[in-house]
Amino acid sequence: MKNIIWQKHRVGRRDRERLLKQKAAVVWFTGLSGSGKSTIASLLGEKIHEKGFLSYVLDGDNIRHGLSSDLGFSDADRMENIRRVGEVSVILSDAGVIVLAAFISPHQKSREAIRKMLADRFIEVYVKCSVSECKKRDPKGHYQKARTGGIKEFTGVSAPYETPLKPEIVLDTENDGVEESAEKVFQFLKDKGLLE
Ligand SMILES: Nc1ncnc2c1ncn2[C@@H]1O[C@H](COP(=O)(O)OP(=O)(O)OP(=O)(O)O)[C@@H](O)[C@H]1O
Ligand SMILES: [Mg+2]
Repeated sequence: MKNIIWQKHRVGRRDRERLLKQKAAVVWFTGLSGSGKSTIASLLGEKIHEKGFLSYVLDGDNIRHGLSSDLGFSDADRMENIRRVGEVSVILSDAGVIVLAAFISPHQKSREAIRKMLADRFIEVYVKCSVSECKKRDPKGHYQKARTGGIKEFTGVSAPYETPLKPEIVLDTENDGVEESAEKVFQFLKDKGLLE
């Protein structure tokens, strides 16, 4: 960028990781509304916390209250929302934190841009659940609202969702329970040597 030069600091991610005695990562949950992203991320966050590691859940609805309160749900705004959250994830993981991000993040291009910034620190988790099951769950009443015209551009109903092409983990929340799904990701992090 013109006239903007990156300022390098004395203390870096690896120093902070040593201080915290952990390795940073971004676990990115993507999937339809009601698929279980927030529920699973929250339980996983608790498991990681109980094991003595520092994690932080970045959650779609909470971010839209603040950082992205100026954005709507057009394709461009969704991409801008995810771009911002991606940058926040990069910053938090640079601080040494294990980030658990729970966002519909329907666009492959947006998710790939974040993967590019984080390389092998990015763990994409596809929270798989059919639209019909999500409609049945409808924890926020959004599907009902979308059906009666109260929400335009609703993912899976009137806006697209691009299924991840090569996610690190696929969770099948129609067949596996919340505990089982959270445990699956927890085990993946352990196997990757992130929780030791
Ligand atoms: N196997 C399961 N895994 C995850 N959630 C489940 C499962 N079975 C039922 N549920 C329920 O489905 C709902 C999922 O809602 P949740 O808010 O976690 O979805 P979300 O993916 O974060 O949606 P949004 O994109 O709207 O934030 C919860 O009420 C949860 O209790
Ligand atoms: Mg959620």
